[in-house]
Amino acid sequence: MAKKEISGFRGKLNSQPRIHQTAGQIQAYGTVSHALPLELEEPVRLEMTEQLNQLLADTMTLRDLYKKSHWQVAGPTFYQLHLLFDKHYDEQSELVDSLAERIQLLGGVSIAMAADVAETTQIKRPPRGREEVPVQISRLLDAHQIIIRECRLLARRAAQLGDDGTNDLVVSDVMRTNELQVWFLSEHLVEMPLVKAVEPAQRKGA
Ligand SMILES: [Fe+2]
Repeated sequence: MAKKEISGFRGKLNSQPRIHQTAGQIQAYGTVSHALPLELEEPVRLEMTEQLNQLLADTMTLRDLYKKSHWQVAGPTFYQLHLLFDKHYDEQSELVDSLAERIQLLGGVSIAMAADVAETTQIKRPPRGREEVPVQISRLLDAHQIIIRECRLLARRAAQLGDDGTNDLVVSDVMRTNELQVWFLSEHLVEMPLVKAVEPAQRKGA
């Protein structure tokens, strides 16, 4: 039987999905699209998106470090740390989305895939295996420190260039979230007796 064309449509219709398609990229990484009506010049958007991508790569790495810690934690504080690490993971995930979308709205291209993030991040790669709690927390604090340092530099530069939106995102969301998480983590590294109070005479140096 001859193939029948459905009238009213141009060309032949076919219900088969067109899978395995390929084509060139529509925008290269490291570029910004032109003429967005944001009242921010192209060189400003280029510099901001480059720095935001660094902050994004580090935030994605810290986010993943939190999930690793959530899964691999061990010891008497397992339950509370298991929950705390996941709470911080969720908060970092929100920051990842806000940063990536800020880069896109500025006309840039957000870094996205793990392999590219691994090549870009300034946070030291942890071993695949499990580590003890003080080491897990120290790693997380080191990562926060890198991010907070970047936030301060980026916020100052954004204010200088007149990119108030980036300044606000970096200060109000990224930096404040990181500062608060640093506090919650750091308090776990204070040596405190769990059951029996230490008499003043027993204290070191007393
Ligand atoms: Fe979980």
